[in-house]
Amino acid sequence: MEEFDAIAKDSGRMAALHRVGTLAKPALSPEGATSIDLGCGTGLFAKVVGAKSLVGVDFSEVLLASARERMETVLQHDIFDLPFAACSIENIVSLFVIDDYSSEKKARFFATVFSLLKPGGNFFFAAYSPRDERMGAWHGAFNRQRQESIEIYLEDVSSYRRRFQQCGLLLEQLEIIKADGVFQLGIHTLKLRREFIVMVGQKE
Ligand SMILES: C[S@@+](CC[C@H](N)C(=O)[O-])C[C@H]1O[C@@H](n2cnc3c(N)ncnc32)[C@H](O)[C@@H]1O
Repeated sequence: MEEFDAIAKDSGRMAALHRVGTLAKPALSPEGATSIDLGCGTGLFAKVVGAKSLVGVDFSEVLLASARERMETVLQHDIFDLPFAACSIENIVSLFVIDDYSSEKKARFFATVFSLLKPGGNFFFAAYSPRDERMGAWHGAFNRQRQESIEIYLEDVSSYRRRFQQCGLLLEQLEIIKADGVFQLGIHTLKLRREFIVMVGQKE
């Protein structure tokens, strides 16, 4: 957990998690509301927002082992094959998860989010902007240095705005969060400009 969390802190990503936390807190507080974090990782968001009742979902057992310390309930599941009934969830959070997936899978994910939400339910979403230097211009250099071939499919604000519209979510909030991130690339320490897209939608 320490390594994943330390990377998140140095990376500047915490600025977005804190902002989403501020936006989401009033919706996550009411007793009895079912709220899920899709792709929760180590449960950093639950820690930031102080919501142990948030249900964490991730396919990585290693990360969930840490998330268990921050959330009362965690489920090892693929976000494309979820065990929840339609219209059963008050709040869905998903931060920096869908960037890894193609346009087709993104569309499937947004349709799933819409179908799971109760009418009046909220979707709290964050993604990397194409202007984010770590995941944009520098992504290839990190892949080469680490001898990885991790694919990433960044989309801009207008594209995500369209996705909200197409699946039927009413856009309530859209913000660009900027931060500085510090990364180690081989022997080089890089300071990169970060840019995150934060959106809040509601199912009418
Ligand atoms: C960049 S991390 C973000 C973690 C967390 N949301 C945060 O902001 O700290 C992406 C997370 O999504 C999870 N993930 C990616 N694809 C997934 C899938 N298909 N099903 C479940 N979890 C997935 C990964 O295991 C990882 O924990």
